[in-house]
Amino acid sequence: MSDIAKDRVDANDAEETEQQPRRAVKTTEIEEGDPWNTIEAAFLKRRSIRRFKKKQVPAHMIRRILEIGRFAPSQGNCQPWKYVVVRDRETITEMENFCADMCRKISGALDYTAYKKGTFARWRSETFLKLFAKWRPSNMHPVPFGAVNLIANDRFKVFHHPPTIIIPLMDTRGIGHPEIDLGIVGTNIVMAAHSLGLGTCWVGLASFLNDSAEWRERLGVEEPYQLIEAISVGYVLGKPMQNTVARETHETLWIEDGEKNLIY
Ligand SMILES: Cc1cc2nc3c(=O)[nH]c(=O)nc-3n(C[C@H](O)[C@H](O)[C@H](O)COP(=O)(O)O)c2cc1C
Repeated sequence: MSDIAKDRVDANDAEETEQQPRRAVKTTEIEEGDPWNTIEAAFLKRRSIRRFKKKQVPAHMIRRILEIGRFAPSQGNCQPWKYVVVRDRETITEMENFCADMCRKISGALDYTAYKKGTFARWRSETFLKLFAKWRPSNMHPVPFGAVNLIANDRFKVFHHPPTIIIPLMDTRGIGHPEIDLGIVGTNIVMAAHSLGLGTCWVGLASFLNDSAEWRERLGVEEPYQLIEAISVGYVLGKPMQNTVARETHETLWIEDGEKNLIY
């Protein structure tokens, strides 16, 4: 591996690089309806990528991406994260198998309709469902629950076979809500990768690894750190940018000049 320091930017020099002299970022006046600028367009065009080429991403590109993550904002600048990068195919396959196995166990145990009414198996399954819903209420949402069932039936993958997985570990001592800071560092990572022409996919289901003592040890996840998300990274296979993804127009309460208006 080459010298990591080469990929580092000193905080004071971050604005002043050869490509970007200090004060290069000017406020740009735009007219209503003007075309999206490069950064806006990058956000609009990013898609979750679920098919990757086998080819590995050079290590220096991953370090470059992590460097952009390092400059993410965080509450009180507490920077409550550190990274694990997994680039061994075998380890990635084992991670995939472990999480898929968890999905199979959960899916099998929670589908109480598979058992006859009044049987012990039905009662046991319903009780497990109730306990699981308390333990991980947000996992019972139809989307993640649907994904768990698809994975259990081998119709969807957990990590989507990427050559590299970046895991930003969350330091639970972070100020306020460190989950938010982790989401922001992840966004920096995802957008940095996108800017380099790489594909990424967030993998919430990777959090199963955090519940396993063996995986915590293998991935170096020690208290007070938690593995709550992972990001698959690699070269894009196919043309997923053509995928259209439904987006709601969220209600916005607009308060100005003593008036309140709802816009969409
Ligand atoms: C925190 C988080 C967790 C996610 N977990 C998964 C996941 O486990 N598996 C997956 O295929 N996609 C996952 N996604 C991707 C979302 O499904 C995707 O962002 C959403 O459908 C919108 O599509 P787009 O990213 O292509 O715009 C996750 C996204 C986020 C932000």
